[in-house]
Amino acid sequence: MDSNNILEVRNLKTYFNLDEGILKAVDDVDFSIKKGKTLGIIGESGCGKSVTAHSILNTVQTPGKIYAGTVHYRTQAGNELEIIGEKPNGEVMRSLRGREISMIFQEPMTSMSPVYSIGHQMTEAILVHEKKRDKAAVKAAKDKALEMLNLVGMPFAVQRFNDYPHQLSGGMCQRAMIAMALSLNPSILIADEPTTALDVTVQAQIVDLMLKLQAERGMSILYITHDMGVIAETATDICVMYLGRVVEQGPVETLFHNPQHPYTIRLLRSIPKLGRKIPGARLDAIKGNVPMPLNLPAECGFMSRCLEVDKEKCGAGIPPMVEVEKDHLVRCFLHNGKEGS
Ligand SMILES: Nc1ncnc2c1ncn2[C@@H]1O[C@H](COP(=O)(O)OP(=O)(O)O)[C@@H](O)[C@H]1O
Ligand SMILES: [Mg+2]
Repeated sequence: MDSNNILEVRNLKTYFNLDEGILKAVDDVDFSIKKGKTLGIIGESGCGKSVTAHSILNTVQTPGKIYAGTVHYRTQAGNELEIIGEKPNGEVMRSLRGREISMIFQEPMTSMSPVYSIGHQMTEAILVHEKKRDKAAVKAAKDKALEMLNLVGMPFAVQRFNDYPHQLSGGMCQRAMIAMALSLNPSILIADEPTTALDVTVQAQIVDLMLKLQAERGMSILYITHDMGVIAETATDICVMYLGRVVEQGPVETLFHNPQHPYTIRLLRSIPKLGRKIPGARLDAIKGNVPMPLNLPAECGFMSRCLEVDKEKCGAGIPPMVEVEKDHLVRCFLHNGKEGS
């Protein structure tokens, strides 16, 4: 592993074997997360972002399966682990989940148990990794949980502490989940559309909190979103995904100032002028949807929606990833650079 990286994903292929054929949800995805930095993964709904996150955590749902690739992770103790294919509830993933790699998902209800109060769940999650479980440790864990609930702006946190998930609104549940993930002080936070259910003011507050904790603790973040505005504020590096593939990647300034892929260019146009303060800002600039990655022809996946398409060139196979400048890679036949790996 490169010494600057905490996580390296190489040639990841996660497919769903369906009756209709093989759905290539994630096809040959390659990226790294640097220590203490934020990698933003951006792309419209259906382009493979969540399946990528689940692949890292080995929680892909059947009939999904990881067909190829490696994921290397550097533990807090400094060991390099290859984690792909580990059982989701096996020893390795249990030792990593929470304390080392923590995640916030799109649907908060899937990560909260309906049968325990949120305070109880948060306290237990903190205590799992503590050596002692005496009165003082329990009290410290409860205090920590409450502090985090306050930090994420949970209204009436003391009362909410004893509530069950079904007693909370979607937005409050999402905040509880965010508080739970952050209370574990992880090395990497994987945040998959973490603020979708929240209004814009709260969203801004949560993003600020994540960045503050990152600055204090050196946490790395994998921030998954369809909102370029949020990426602009949070990410140090970006991966643009389309139809299961990374189509452009590089440092955030480079991609914003010199975008090459027609898809990236159109995503950037979709940023509302006032950034995240405009509610409901979506990727409206691009007509149509991401097609299903099912039985796809071997051609550029963005061809059918591309405004710059050159039928001869673009249908000639899957464009390779090429380096157009340092650390800036693009997968497009119309933007030739040096061929990368
Ligand atoms: N459990 C599943 N069964 C079949 N197909 C799935 C499943 N989960 C995801 N997919 C498909 O995989 C592709 C990528 O999905 P996903 O990673 O959830 O997209 P995103 O998070 O970018 O919106 C989509 O075409 C989606 O329909
Ligand atoms: Mg998703």
